[in-house]
Amino acid sequence: MPLLIREVPTEDAPLDLLLLADPSEAKVRSYLAQSRCFAASENGTVVGACAVQPLDSGGQELMCIAVHPDRQKTGIGTALLKWVVDFYRKSGAGRLEVGTGTFGYQLAFYQRQGFRVTAIDRDFFIHNYPEPIFEDGIQLFDMLRLSLDFGGESHKPSRAQKIPFRS
Ligand SMILES: CC(C)(COP(=O)(O)OP(=O)(O)OC[C@H]1O[C@@H](n2cnc3c(N)ncnc32)[C@H](O)[C@@H]1OP(=O)(O)O)[C@@H](O)C(=O)NCCC(=O)NCCS
Repeated sequence: MPLLIREVPTEDAPLDLLLLADPSEAKVRSYLAQSRCFAASENGTVVGACAVQPLDSGGQELMCIAVHPDRQKTGIGTALLKWVVDFYRKSGAGRLEVGTGTFGYQLAFYQRQGFRVTAIDRDFFIHNYPEPIFEDGIQLFDMLRLSLDFGGESHKPSRAQKIPFRS
């Protein structure tokens, strides 16, 4: 099925989809206000979406990305992520960042597109969500920060670096 990816007004952001990636509606609503939203549609139906927020440092942060459960594992998420990476690379952004759990398929999903781990935010999911979050029956505690640098330096092999802890 042909996939159409485009930017949509944040007022039209598919909240039900975005909540699959971030269970806090209050958080999603708060960052949507200053984000850009991108949606993937098949035959006029939105099947995937993400939100990207500018950072004070000049980078951009992918705040959430999700695909409708019936359409997951069919390549839509990868197509949307690649599209957004390309969009921000061409727009001159310095880098695209994302925060995710420390385990699970999502880590491979981002690293396949070149994202690299830059930091660990310890107990992020404890401090920022009222309820415990579980994935595959394992409680999420820490957030890994990943970054895709468009300058190219981060892709060069370098000696081992210490990853800063935030706690
Ligand atoms: C993460 C997500 C956006 C990926 O979109 P997608 O359309 O399913 O991804 P793709 O079809 O492009 O597949 C990418 C890889 O992820 C894997 N994958 C996707 N969903 C998976 C699942 N539920 N369990 C295990 N692996 C999964 C695919 O098998 C594929 O790996 P492969 O190439 O080794 O086969 C989507 O699965 C999703 O909405 N998940 C729930 C919300 C979420 O966790 N968002 C990310 C927050 S950090």
